[in-house]
Amino acid sequence: MSLYVYLEPDRERLAQVGPQFQSIGCDIVHSMADLEAHLPRYPETLLVVVGATVPLDEVLMFTAYQRLQRPLIGVVLVRRELDPVDVLRCLRAGVREVVEESDWDGLRNASSRSVDLSKALGTTLRTNSEQTPYGRVITIFAGKGGCGRSVIAVNLATALAAGGGRRVLLVDLDLQFGDVAIMLKLPPERNIAGAIAMAGRLDEPGLRSIITPYKNGIDVLLAPSGPAQGEHVRRELVVEILDLARPNYDFIVVDTPALVTDQVLAALDISDWLIPIVTPDLPTLKSVRLTVEMFDMLDYSKDRRLLVFNRSNTEVGLTAADIEEAVGIPFAVHVPSSREVTISVNRAEPLYLTNPAHPFSAAIGRLADLCTGTKTADTQKRRFFSRSGKANR
Ligand SMILES: Nc1ncnc2c1ncn2[C@@H]1O[C@H](COP(=O)(O)OP(=O)(O)O)[C@@H](O)[C@H]1O
Ligand SMILES: [Mg+2]
Repeated sequence: MSLYVYLEPDRERLAQVGPQFQSIGCDIVHSMADLEAHLPRYPETLLVVVGATVPLDEVLMFTAYQRLQRPLIGVVLVRRELDPVDVLRCLRAGVREVVEESDWDGLRNASSRSVDLSKALGTTLRTNSEQTPYGRVITIFAGKGGCGRSVIAVNLATALAAGGGRRVLLVDLDLQFGDVAIMLKLPPERNIAGAIAMAGRLDEPGLRSIITPYKNGIDVLLAPSGPAQGEHVRRELVVEILDLARPNYDFIVVDTPALVTDQVLAALDISDWLIPIVTPDLPTLKSVRLTVEMFDMLDYSKDRRLLVFNRSNTEVGLTAADIEEAVGIPFAVHVPSSREVTISVNRAEPLYLTNPAHPFSAAIGRLADLCTGTKTADTQKRRFFSRSGKANR
């Protein structure tokens, strides 16, 4: 039985890395024709790794075709260099991840993510007839503005969508100053304010009519275009929207304002994951501490919290260990600060989409893995931090 296959026409490269692939039971083929002959003989295949010298157009055609014929197969593409435009084309065609040839760890992680996804999809496809998917709700939260909630929310939604493998709804509950529309360059017309008149009798066509489709299976429920309308979105309406949306999505990512509004509490109450964001500065730290105390008071399970350390590499005199101790829970993920993040926000393109190999994107990928349950938090790293007391990177 062969679950993995590696297409590598380049003999030199094969001599270097072939044995490592073979050691994990991966079959090796040398041409696209061989690959196409291989797949029908091994219908259990879940992963195809495509070497750097295979022409991009061939890969895209192959991927688009397999996506229909064998939707469980994940394609992970290796390239000598990552060109953002090419990466985008690949993701659109359904390539799960694109990895730089020199990035061996990246390839291993991308491959295991893809296999996990294929297995999860396999279960979903098999049980689809009896069971509809039930969207897990993820609420991103911080007691202070500017911590990176929105930028993390849009990138996490993109990562969870896995190039179209999963259905994701991104909800902007920052009803007064929502940024998701501008961060994704979406027209603001359809938004949550459209639900106000349907409150109490919202149905699926009604919900569809206020949702804005983005890319890769991501739908977005935007905040009202003016701050006043937000007041009329009642807590009950938020519950009604989320309940109605859940069967249609694998994940619902909720972006929130800096205040614990009634609407935010409604989302927190039914969340499978609570993601507090902290940045290394005292006011944020204080607000996160208060947030965690509030979670305790509301009896939100500790297992459902994923503390994110944003801008973790900023040197400001507070170490990761200081912050973990002050907040009282360990970090699940460290997200580095980078100019590229701000540039991507200004370009209105999630960095995860344009540069999935960027350290910021990799961190968001790890957060997505935690949310899908394919990984556990990196405790080794955590121990390292508490012992050395050094900030990340
Ligand atoms: N990891 C990061 N690296 C660089 N800039 C960041 C990072 N996280 C957030 N930012 C920047 O901080 C600003 C505020 O982020 P945003 O997501 O809007 O915060 P919030 O939604 O919490 O108010 C954005 O312009 C964004 O570019
Ligand atoms: Mg925001």
